[in-house]
Amino acid sequence: MAANPVAKRLVVLVSGSGTNLQALLDEIERTGAEEYGARIVAVGADRDGIEGLARAERAGLPTFVCRVKDHTSREEWDAALAAAVAAHEPDLVISAGFMKIVGKEFLARFGGRFVNTHPALLPSFPGAHGVRDALAYGAKVTGCTVHFVDDGVDTGPIIAQGVVEIRDEDDESALHERIKEVERSLLVEVVGRLARHGYRIEGRKVVIQ
Ligand code: GRF
Repeated sequence: MAANPVAKRLVVLVSGSGTNLQALLDEIERTGAEEYGARIVAVGADRDGIEGLARAERAGLPTFVCRVKDHTSREEWDAALAAAVAAHEPDLVISAGFMKIVGKEFLARFGGRFVNTHPALLPSFPGAHGVRDALAYGAKVTGCTVHFVDDGVDTGPIIAQGVVEIRDEDDESALHERIKEVERSLLVEVVGRLARHGYRIEGRKVVIQ
């Protein structure tokens, strides 16, 4: 994506509490979209009734819900999600706690501009239970990874990582909360840099210009 002075258009996808979304909203509100480099133009989810959607509505943003169970196949759901996102003409799509693996059609349209945040230091502990798995393994440090999404599970090129120490007394929820503090600022920082400066993906390396 090339550098350009106009604020980039972001579509953010959520499945839960949406605190990463909120961190983006707060920073854009604080600095202004032009200075930050991006604005959120819509928020999508794979389920109803979540705080992530409520946050978007309170911010006056358009929202959409695309549920797997409303479609006859996973492929049909994936195509519908891709169409719903495309309708908002995003420059970047941000998976901020979106708990679904997208498929071929979505990646054909948004590959190379679909960013995810994962609560572990990839390539360790990919998948839906990154926090629990790091704790169970007995790792001493873990953290979060902001990366581009490819067709694997949490395998795409890494943009940035943040480290969090694991304490003896940690349980999954205490550790996840400390990871999320680091994750929110990392996501805000990374999305802003991608949007303001543009970037290239060279194999596994992401070069921000
Ligand atoms: C984040 O830790 C994200 O990495 C994980 O789910 C959490 C989402 O948190 N996949 P929130 O919905 O942004 O509060």
